[in-house]
Amino acid sequence: MTQNRAPLTFWEKITKQLFFAIWFFAKKISPDAARQLLYWGISDKALVSQPFAAPSLHMETLGKTFPNPIGIAAGFDKEVKYNDELIRNGFGFGELGTFTYKPNHAPQKTHFIPAKRAILVESESFPNCGIVNLGNKLIARRRLPHIVGVNISSSLDIDERNIGQFLEYLEQDLIHSIQHVAPYCDFITLNLSHPGMPISTLIHNPAQLGLLLRQIKQQIKKFAPIITPKLILKIPYDGQINVQLLSDMLIEEQVDGLIVAGFSASKSIKQILPDPRVKGCIAGEPLKDPSTELLRRFYLATRGKITLIACGGVFTGRDAFEKIKAGASLIQLHSAILYEGVEIANKINRELSLILRKNGLKSVQEAVGKTAELFSH
Ligand SMILES: Cc1cc2nc3c(=O)[nH]c(=O)nc-3n(C[C@H](O)[C@H](O)[C@H](O)COP(=O)(O)O)c2cc1C
Repeated sequence: MTQNRAPLTFWEKITKQLFFAIWFFAKKISPDAARQLLYWGISDKALVSQPFAAPSLHMETLGKTFPNPIGIAAGFDKEVKYNDELIRNGFGFGELGTFTYKPNHAPQKTHFIPAKRAILVESESFPNCGIVNLGNKLIARRRLPHIVGVNISSSLDIDERNIGQFLEYLEQDLIHSIQHVAPYCDFITLNLSHPGMPISTLIHNPAQLGLLLRQIKQQIKKFAPIITPKLILKIPYDGQINVQLLSDMLIEEQVDGLIVAGFSASKSIKQILPDPRVKGCIAGEPLKDPSTELLRRFYLATRGKITLIACGGVFTGRDAFEKIKAGASLIQLHSAILYEGVEIANKINRELSLILRKNGLKSVQEAVGKTAELFSH
């Protein structure tokens, strides 16, 4: 567990203030330019901060002690350049990716919708540098004590006539990826959270998905037998998911964690757009309440047997507390980092520790599932 950094020097404080001011104005003019600036500020260490630490924020889960429950969601760092620096500045853990076996240089379009604190992402594949390149980057950072996972998926297409062969190819594709990352990370996330991708159709077929997860789990153990990364599944926000069937399968296959939820292409959520028929998936604030409700249902159905990781629309300590009460042990942010900047983890952690104290709770751990439990009686 690490949450240590020397106090900021005078020049670090000045650079940071200056950088923040420029970024703040850039955000008003062009969110895309502000995003690039933010990435530059992180990798060039212009945005260092003193992490907020409190014993009440420690979380024991997935066989680790997390310094705090606030993590970086997938999609933010596909270059292994930003996660470790953000963790030094106050995040509790990170997730790299999504990575696929082969590199993919297709462009990904993002549209910021500041009035709704939402982001529309148009992508028909997973742009990334490919697993072999990633493996080398992971080797270079492997001695760092930060808790970091790798999110993997596959861009293979389904031939409608032959689902059996698709599953066979998919398994091979994912196994090729696993062997390059398993020895160097703390968890591996299988990403089914991009609605529209062939692999994501598996969330509606828990029996087939269960067989695939069993294979993946065996392969992770084979390639990392001594310190075996945990296996996590990431799903989209989708009102059609059969929570009970999926939960029973995850328990049966001893999957360690579930991220609820990634993107959404649901009609109800796309109503925030001037034209809801537009292609793409939504991230950000509009996901907050629906995904909290889905999380609560998974907490009740999994009965605390699986670590739940909340994702979707968390911007404040209050939002994080709602997710924890609904059953989350950990929380991930993406849109909030882009909209609020890198100080967001410290801000949320500070607010969260105050909320815990006001509610007479000694730790985050004590708050997990508190509202979900009320509904079960
Ligand atoms: C620009 C962008 C790119 C993303 N790329 C990925 C990705 O590659 N893999 C993934 O699993 N999720 C990806 N996500 C989804 C986020 O990890 C997260 O699940 C989603 O944004 C909801 O969280 P938020 O409301 O805090 O943004 C991306 C999100 C955004 C905004």
